[in-house]
Amino acid sequence: MARSGRRGPSCHTSATVTGARSLTLRNACSTIPPVLRFLTAGESHGPGLTVVVDGVPAGVPVLREEIDADLRRRQGGYGRGGRMKIETDTVEILSGVRHGRTLGSPVSLLVRNKDHANWSDVMSPDPQPDAARERRRLRYPRPGHADLAGALKYGTDDLRNVLERASARETTARVAAGALARALLRAAGVEVRSHVLRIGAAAVPAGCVDWEALDRVEDSPVRCADATAAGAMIAEIDRAKKDGDSVGGVVEVIARGVPPGLGSYVQWDRRLDGRIAQALMSIHAVKAVAIGEGFAGGETRGSAFHDEILWAESGGLERPTNRAGGLEGGVTNGEEIRAAAVVKPIPTLLIALRSVDLATKEPQKASVERSDTCVVPAAGVVAEAMLCLVLADALLEKTGGDSLEEVLAHLEATRAQQRRLAGPR
Ligand SMILES: Cc1cc2nc3c(=O)[nH]c(=O)nc-3n(C[C@H](O)[C@H](O)[C@H](O)COP(=O)(O)O)c2cc1C
Repeated sequence: MARSGRRGPSCHTSATVTGARSLTLRNACSTIPPVLRFLTAGESHGPGLTVVVDGVPAGVPVLREEIDADLRRRQGGYGRGGRMKIETDTVEILSGVRHGRTLGSPVSLLVRNKDHANWSDVMSPDPQPDAARERRRLRYPRPGHADLAGALKYGTDDLRNVLERASARETTARVAAGALARALLRAAGVEVRSHVLRIGAAAVPAGCVDWEALDRVEDSPVRCADATAAGAMIAEIDRAKKDGDSVGGVVEVIARGVPPGLGSYVQWDRRLDGRIAQALMSIHAVKAVAIGEGFAGGETRGSAFHDEILWAESGGLERPTNRAGGLEGGVTNGEEIRAAAVVKPIPTLLIALRSVDLATKEPQKASVERSDTCVVPAAGVVAEAMLCLVLADALLEKTGGDSLEEVLAHLEATRAQQRRLAGPR
């Protein structure tokens, strides 16, 4: 049942075609394309961000309010800058949803940049007088941003051409797409949440933060479950802001209700731990990812690290600990999926670092764009979206199915089979 229809044909038909085309098709399949695919487009100050999500089964309940709620959470968090105050993101659904349910066709979403009105000539697709180009031209690359690498890649000395797309404004589209994936997962009994573990020197006390404690997260200005730690985090942000500096941190993203058996150990690119790590690492400013207590694994003995397997007559198989973060061998084992991501301090600084004028080669202070001080709380929301997209893809890979009804029927058959081995869970 897995891999039927949706992803198979182009790989399998490669054997029936000849010559160069056959090679092309086979090469195209050397890494497995996802079942649930999405592509975003749009610039930070262009008319808007768009995303096309392909592969969502028919019948998934989708409400605009729910997408908007996630967009609002992405825009919030203590330490955000001026832009968040002038823009409230809302989604427009352009295709793929009718009367509150997906159709099985590609879903396209649009989030308009409300600030675009002030940038229409600067960002115009049509030729403009020099004044429009010069008005928002950036020449002093900001260390830690894509400015210099992008300028060298595309051969431009106007860094505006780079930063408009490299900007984390793009994560708006990911969060909108993630809300669709979340709706599918919710129907399958899977929930995804996130919280902040650390901002600068302020951290929640060591130990696992329970799922129930996450109820408090959305009431916290820094999306932290521990009120004392949250206070210290706010103080860290205030200090950084006062100094014209920025501060990073660590978020944890958690999925509950994930069926065992998603992902695979049979090929490197099907391992779900690798796919989650890639998805989280692709978020702007994320510089390290750990699955479960991954970093502790480097300093702990095996006997104190691995999660034992017990049997209880009432509940079946049990794992008293979950240091593996719900993944063993690249496959979900039925425990909560837990992954942590380190978010670096954002690179736009009022106390600008040293840089160079790309036109004159003279030393200059790096350019300063309107900016946040700390984006760690928001990064957690983006991490949720990315985890939802990866898990929804892995679920569909496992179950196949063109409609939600088929997905759920296949999932129930899988769960029934697993209960025979693992007992009631
Ligand atoms: C939600 C979010 C918002 C961000 N906002 C800013 C910002 O206002 N200013 C800034 O300098 N960096 C911001 N960043 C980080 C940069 O986008 C990121 O550091 C930059 O694109 C370079 O990518 P890299 O850090 O992955 O190398 C933000 C990141 C996220 C996840």
